[in-house]
Amino acid sequence: MHLHNLRLINFKNYTDQSVECSSDVNCLVGKNGSGKTNFLDAVYYLSFAKSAFNSTDHHNIRHGQEYMSLLAQLQLNDSEVDIQCSIPVGQKKIVKWNKLSYEKLSEHIGRMPVVLISPYDTDLIRDGSELRRKFFDMMISMFDKAYLENLIRYNRFLKQRNSLLKEGSIKKSWDQTLIDTYDLEIIKLSNSIAKTRDEFTDSITNYFSNHYERISGNQEQTYILYESEVIKENFVGRYKAQIEKDKLLQRTTMGVHRDDFLFLIGDRPIKKFGSQGQQKSFAISLKLSQFQLLEDRLEQKPILLLDDVFDKLDDLRISVLIELITSKRFGQIFLTDARPERTKEILSDYKGSVQFFGVEDGRISPMPLSS
Ligand SMILES: Nc1ncnc2c1ncn2[C@@H]1O[C@H](COP(=O)(O)OP(=O)(O)O)[C@@H](O)[C@H]1O
Ligand SMILES: [Mg+2]
Repeated sequence: MHLHNLRLINFKNYTDQSVECSSDVNCLVGKNGSGKTNFLDAVYYLSFAKSAFNSTDHHNIRHGQEYMSLLAQLQLNDSEVDIQCSIPVGQKKIVKWNKLSYEKLSEHIGRMPVVLISPYDTDLIRDGSELRRKFFDMMISMFDKAYLENLIRYNRFLKQRNSLLKEGSIKKSWDQTLIDTYDLEIIKLSNSIAKTRDEFTDSITNYFSNHYERISGNQEQTYILYESEVIKENFVGRYKAQIEKDKLLQRTTMGVHRDDFLFLIGDRPIKKFGSQGQQKSFAISLKLSQFQLLEDRLEQKPILLLDDVFDKLDDLRISVLIELITSKRFGQIFLTDARPERTKEILSDYKGSVQFFGVEDGRISPMPLSS
C-alpha cells in the first residue's frame, strides 16, 4: 500500500500543492515552520479523517480561507483508489473513497493504516490516561469495527447520562427510570469494551518486549497492563452503588472511560521512575509494535510517518530505526528533517527509491538527490 500522489488545498499553510510520492522513502527537508509536519499531518488526516495535532477540525483550514480539501491516490494491492477528505464551507467534513461518501466516518478507519512516530510520543507515557485510551482505542478500531461501534455508542450513552445527572442536580429530582435504562447499556458496553482492551493488551505485549529490548539495548522486563474497574470483581454492584456520588459530582464516576494502561519497567511505573531515555525507548517501541500489529491484522504495511526523529533521538535509537528502514522492514515512509545532509547520510545504504523534497513556506518541490 502506498500513496501515489497527494494534493493539499488550503490545508494549514498550503494553498494548493500537489506532490508525486515515491513508493519507498520520501524525505521532506526545510527550515522550521516551513510546513514539513503539516504535510505528514495531511497524510495522517487521510487515514484517520482527523489531524494528529489539532482536535478542532477548522484549525486545519488555511487562515483566512473557508474550506480545505485533501485528495490522494492510493495504491492498494492491485487497485488504485481515490481518497478525499474535505471540510466544505459551512458544512460537515466529507470523506470519500473512490468518489463515494461514507455513511459513517467510522467505516473509513483502518482502510489506509498510518503510524506516526514523533517527538511528542513520550506524551503517551507522561500525560493523563485519556491520551493512552485514545491511542489504544484508535489502534483497535483500525481492525475491529464492532469495537469502534461500541465505543461510539458508549460515549453517546455516557454523555446522555451525564446530562441527566446535571439536569437532575439543578431540578433536585432525578429521572431514575431513564438513568436505569442508560445504565443497562453502559454496563453491557463497558463489559464488552473492557474485554477487548484486556485481550488486546496481551497481544501487543507480545510484540512490545522484543522492540523494547532492541531499541533500549537492555533486557529489563517490561509490562503493559490494562487497568480497569470493569474487569475487577463485582463491577455491576460497585457501579450501581456509586449513584449518589455520581449525582453529587454530576458525572459518571465508573466505567471504561476511566480506564488506564500502565507501562512498567520491572515493577515500577515508567511514568514516575523511568529516565527520559527509557521513556523515549518505551514510546518508540510502542509505535513499532503498533506498526507490526496493524501489519499482521490488516495484512498490509501501514504508511510510516517519521517526524523529526533523527533530530530528537539519540544514536542507539536512531541506529535501530535506520536498520529497520534499510532492511526494508517498512513500506512507504514519509520523513522530515531540518538537515538534509544528515538524512542523505543516513539513507546512503538504502537500496529502495528515495525522493527528497524541499519545503519552503508552504511550497514543496522535488529535489535531485545530488543537490
Ligand atoms: N491553519 C493554518 N493556516 C495557515 N498556516 C498554518 C495553519 N496551521 C499552521 N500553520 C503554519 O504552519 C507552520 C508550521 O508548519 P510545520 O509543518 O509545523 O513546520 P515544520 O516544517 O517545522 O514541521 C507555522 O508557520 C504555522 O503558522
Ligand atoms: Mg515539524
